[in-house]
Parts: sequence; structure tokens; C-alpha cells
Amino acid sequence: MAIEFNQSLQSYNSFGILARAQEMLRVTHIEELQTLIRSPAFKDRPRLVLGGGSNLVLTGDVKAMVLKVELKGKRLVREDEKGYLVEAMAGENWHDFVTWTLDQGWPGLENLALIPGSVGASPVQNIGAYGVELQDRFFDLDAVDLSTGQRFRLNAAQCAFGYRDSIFKHGALQQQLIPPLRDSALERPPAQKPLQALTLETQVDGPPIDLGLGLANRALITHVRFFLPKKWQAVLDYQDLQKKCLEHANPSPSAKQIYDWVCAIRREKLPDPKVIGNVGSFFKNPTVSSEQCKDIIAREPSLVHYPLLDGRFKLAAGWLIDACGWRGKSIGMAGVYPKQALVLINKGGFENPCTGGEVMTLARAIQTSVYERFGILLEPEPTVL
Ligand code: EPU
Repeated sequence: MAIEFNQSLQSYNSFGILARAQEMLRVTHIEELQTLIRSPAFKDRPRLVLGGGSNLVLTGDVKAMVLKVELKGKRLVREDEKGYLVEAMAGENWHDFVTWTLDQGWPGLENLALIPGSVGASPVQNIGAYGVELQDRFFDLDAVDLSTGQRFRLNAAQCAFGYRDSIFKHGALQQQLIPPLRDSALERPPAQKPLQALTLETQVDGPPIDLGLGLANRALITHVRFFLPKKWQAVLDYQDLQKKCLEHANPSPSAKQIYDWVCAIRREKLPDPKVIGNVGSFFKNPTVSSEQCKDIIAREPSLVHYPLLDGRFKLAAGWLIDACGWRGKSIGMAGVYPKQALVLINKGGFENPCTGGEVMTLARAIQTSVYERFGILLEPEPTVL
């Protein structure tokens, strides 16, 4: 593993923002990474784990050592009468992995087709789409502790998955770069559930790992395993998929059919990051109490809202942003995608890209107008550096 100096990150972040890494290492072998971590030169150095760069806003050059995960490989670990245990290494492309599992005849990931990014990044934000979240198919993962080089394994409970959330997003180094608004009594999104400090008993080598309050910037995921049951059931609850069933007069589509529909829906609604730089949904869909939901509906009857099991309601952030008139608007080269207001885009392409500052100025302006109109503080999804 050779260190690359002053490496451009433009091809390694899906916004296509211009930024450089002072130092970058391509991680292709786990043992080499472990040796490096244990070397005195690496100790206490800040570092940034980079997967597909599809959930990242770079607001300047990266001073931390960038660890670009390029671990490749996928395999069937085990098949039994209940299902298939499938493994992919972190550097595999997520969509290619989904396609491969279906080609092998192992359905289950079809609703998650065409999500940009790498397999290693998929548990970090518990990716989800069209009624399925990663945690629904997740079995376990392996990672390397970046402070000791030790390998360890986490099951789903230990990953503390939540809506676009996991233990990998929490930790001492976590920064909230969009400061919360402070001066209003209006309801805010509920605080994240606190993560319990926990010590792992399952590890791949060495003594138990102390996870403290989180693993943000502390771990590099190397392998992710999924359990795909043989008793496959189509997940068709999502309105767009129900529409497809009706359009095609097919109430019992195959997994491959759902995969094709999901790809078609995404292609229609969301920009392809290879053509128009973006990081998918820029904000999480917020949740509100039933009182607040009723209050907004009284003023805005067309509010898109979904009841949750705990009596609260999830609101469509895209609708809130759209209602504030942001669709198609821009600041500098950063814009709001005309077909989906939840997606911010790089309007300048690779030649004349937006800056991370423009993206964040636009994001803050959107946050402010949604807050002023609805009393809801939108929480950004991507990591801002
Ligand atoms: N809407 C508008 N105007 C807009 C955008 C949306 O009125 O400009 C309305 C839509 O008409 C719809 C509702 O808002 O009634 C929800 O929109 P959509 O179905 O596009 O889904 P979403 O809630 O905006 C979420 C995920 C997506 C995921 C889709 C499908 C989040 C933050 N986003 O989007 O995930 O693909 O559902 O499951 O949960 C991502 O995370 O990057 C991502 C793309």
C-alpha cells in the first residue's frame, strides 16, 4: 500500500465536488491495513474511511489520511433449508452486488436496487428504499478497529440500526456542521436514541472491543453478510410499486420484475450520479407527533404523511421542501433537482462543479424556510466534511 499525496477526490465523491486528500491509501488487503495501523507513523493520525463517496459533502481539502476501501470479493457462505448466507467485501459496488444475488437465484435485495455507493457504506446509514431497509436482510459484518488494527464482528443488534442510522454514525468525533436552530419553542425532530456503551463479546481476533458510545471514524468495515430466506416474499407496500402492479396487471411480480420496476422508478425520479452529481436524499424524512401533524394538515391539507407504529407520523421531506418553492432553485452551481426536491445536485458537472460551501448554503436556506413555515428542522443525511 503506497501513500498517494495531494490526490484529487473529485471522482471519489458522487457530487463531483473538487477537493484533494493530502494523503490517500487504497485499502486492498486487510493484513496490510492492520500492519499499517500498528505502525508508529499511523498512530493517533486522523483518518477518513471512504467508500463510494455517495453520502459525502466535501467543503474543503481533506487533511485526515483518506483510507479508500477497495476490498473486492463476494461469495455464498452457506446454504441451508432456510436460505442463503451471502457475503460481499466492502469495496464491492452495492448495485452490482444486488444484481449478482438475483442472477444467482437468491432474491431479497431487489427493492434496494440502484442505490449508489459501496457495500461497506450500506450498513453505516442502513440504506433503505421501497419498503425494505438493509437491516431487514442483514446478518453480520466484520470490521477493523482503526486504533488497534484488531478485527471484530458485529451482529444487527450491535450495529444499533435506526432510520438511516447505525453505531457507525455516532462517536466522539461526530460533528454536526449545520448548527441546530435554538430560539424557538416549536417542536424539533426527536433526539437520536442514546446508544448504550457496549463491550463486544464476539470478535474475530484478540480481546473484546470497547465500542464506547459509537464507532464513527473508529472502524473500517471489511465484509458484510446478508441472509436471504428461501421463503421469499415480495415487498410491494410502497405506493410506486403498487402502481406498477396495477399498470402491468401483475399482482404477484417476481423478484426480477420488482428489481426492474425499482430501477425504472429510480431512473425516472432520481438523477444518475454518473451524469448529475448528487448524494441521493439530502435530508431525512422527519417524524412529528400526531398533534403537530394534525396542526400542519389543518393549514396544508395535501401534506404527505405516513403513520408510524408508535403513534407519531413520518412526513415526506421532499414534499415540505417542494411546498416552500425550492424545486429547481439554485445557489451558485448547487441546485434542487427539479423532479425531486429532496435531492440536491451539482449543476456544473465535472468541468465547473459546485462547491461544498454552495451545497451547504443551499441546504441551510432550505432548512430555514422549512423551519419557518412548518416548525420542523430537517436533518441532513450525508456526512459533511
Ligand atoms: N414529493 C413531493 N415533491 C417533491 C418530492 C417528493 O411532493 O419534490 C412527495 C412525493 O410525491 C411523495 C412523497 O413526497 O408523495 C415521498 O417522495 P418519494 O416517494 O420520492 O420518497 P422520499 O420519501 O422522498 C425516500 C427515501 C429514498 C428512497 C425513497 C423510496 C429518505 C430520506 N429517502 O424518499 O432514499 O429511495 O423513499 O423508498 O428516506 C436516499 O436515501 O438517498 C434515497 C433516495
